[in-house]
Amino acid sequence: MAFPNQSATVYNDSVVRQFAIMTVVWGVVGMLVGVIIAAQLAWPELNLGISWLSYGRLRPLHTNAVIFAFGGCGLFATSFYVVQRTCQVRLFSDGLASFIFWGWQLVILSAAISLPLGFTSGKEYAELEWPIDILITLIWVAYAVVFFGTVGTRKVKHIYVANWFFGAFILAVAILHLVNSAAIPAGAMKSYSAYAGVQDAMVQWWYGHNAVGFFLTAGFLGMMYYFIPKQAGRPVYSYRLSIVHFWALIFTYMWAGPHHLHYTALPDWTQSVGMVFSLILLAPSWGGMINGVMTLSGAWHKLRDDPILRFLIVSLSFYGMSTFEGPMMSIKTVNALSHYTDWTVGHVHSGALGWVGLVTMGSMYYLIPKLFGQKQMYSVKAIEVHFWTATIGIVIYIAAMWIAGVMQGLMWRAINADGTLTYTFVESVKATYPFYVLRLLGGLLYLVGMVIMLWNTLKTATAGRAVSVNVPAAAAHA
Ligand code: HEM
Ligand code: HEM
Repeated sequence: MAFPNQSATVYNDSVVRQFAIMTVVWGVVGMLVGVIIAAQLAWPELNLGISWLSYGRLRPLHTNAVIFAFGGCGLFATSFYVVQRTCQVRLFSDGLASFIFWGWQLVILSAAISLPLGFTSGKEYAELEWPIDILITLIWVAYAVVFFGTVGTRKVKHIYVANWFFGAFILAVAILHLVNSAAIPAGAMKSYSAYAGVQDAMVQWWYGHNAVGFFLTAGFLGMMYYFIPKQAGRPVYSYRLSIVHFWALIFTYMWAGPHHLHYTALPDWTQSVGMVFSLILLAPSWGGMINGVMTLSGAWHKLRDDPILRFLIVSLSFYGMSTFEGPMMSIKTVNALSHYTDWTVGHVHSGALGWVGLVTMGSMYYLIPKLFGQKQMYSVKAIEVHFWTATIGIVIYIAAMWIAGVMQGLMWRAINADGTLTYTFVESVKATYPFYVLRLLGGLLYLVGMVIMLWNTLKTATAGRAVSVNVPAAAAHA
């Protein structure tokens, strides 16, 4: 690492530092809200009779906080770090980068106020009302300008594959947001969707599934393709596979949305298209996972004493698991059992806690010491403890949800000889209670790990100092 002199061009790492710190802060906040709603599902009185603490208002606060605040800040931090290093130029515009940081924090704050107050468009993962949607659009355009501007002014010929994934994430999210949020305002914080009926449902789940594919997957694959080779000290296992992986993944994801609408008013053939593309999606997903895991070939021993690498590699095993489970759940007959049950919630969190959470944490543990001029995090032991609390927490969370989900599905379809239902709905709710308590325990463990990370981050930041890193004078390969 070189230290700055007055005349050298340096990377813009202050925006990376800001986003990295906020990733950890919003992680704690979003997961705390997750723990609160998990407790409310076991003990509903915990809403204390206060409307803005009610489950229906806190649930979207949780999903928005973990996906867009925690995940979003992580994606901004890593994409800005990676694009500068792999293109060997400073970010295209410092002013816009700063606008993106402060604008995004304003979006998060607006969500944190408006959702508990009950302002919502009613579209899952796109709940924010139209004025906030417009702010998001402005920030996203600025993001695209900064990211693609940096790629466009690069000093190396080649565009490293991580940037392909970040680029696809930025473009796809722009399209998804613009199309799905189209609405007619009916007041300062009230609007009606531009679509109606089954078209509205179709557009919503085209958005919803691609939010998973591009927000929760493509960007994080960008992280994987940069930070796993870096931390392992090895090149990507197969560069050719990474390119095949990229095109196959982005092409296939776009068609899989209807698996969220099986057995609905959506035309049956559309549901079948969704199912078939979901099954095909297994191949590129696993291709990517294998590429990441095999990057470690010849360096497996590093897993024994490198907790950061363990975060990154275990995240990939959860990625593999959830992208196997997803295609299975998209088969209509399987979905007939799993839909509406906690199995879906288990699937979501094996992807969210296991894949998105762990890969972000691993990448942040790599980044944060570098951003503050330290060789490593303040406490490596604490990273180790975080790894184990998070992993045990995930296993408890998803195992509880799987058992609860299959049990619910079976209870709801059980029929007596005379054709009447064997169980009332409330009996299935009662039977689920112990699993809700177990899920709360798993979630608490995961949150404790995140709080340890916050402590470790603050200690590292205060022990170190913000450093500037020179852009290399002569361009080497990426
Ligand atoms: C401490 C950790 C967490 C806990 C305790 C937790 C808890 C919960 C609970 C109780 C729900 C509502 C389930 C229901 O309605 O039945 C939920 C939903 C959800 N959570 Fe989490 N969560 C945590 C972390 C995360 C993270 C890190 C992410 C994403 C990166 C995430 C993404 C989601 C999503 C997408 C849903 C909606 C699921 C659906 O509609 O099927 N959660 N979470
Ligand atoms: C090959 C990849 C995947 C496929 C084919 C797939 C398929 C599915 C299916 C069939 C459902 C259930 C729909 C329903 O019955 O309502 C579902 C729900 C969900 N999946 Fe996946 N999944 C995949 C990967 C992932 C990953 C990696 C994540 C997270 C990072 C994820 C997040 C979600 C979320 C958030 C939902 C719940 C949506 C909601 O109802 O609110 N999926 N997925």
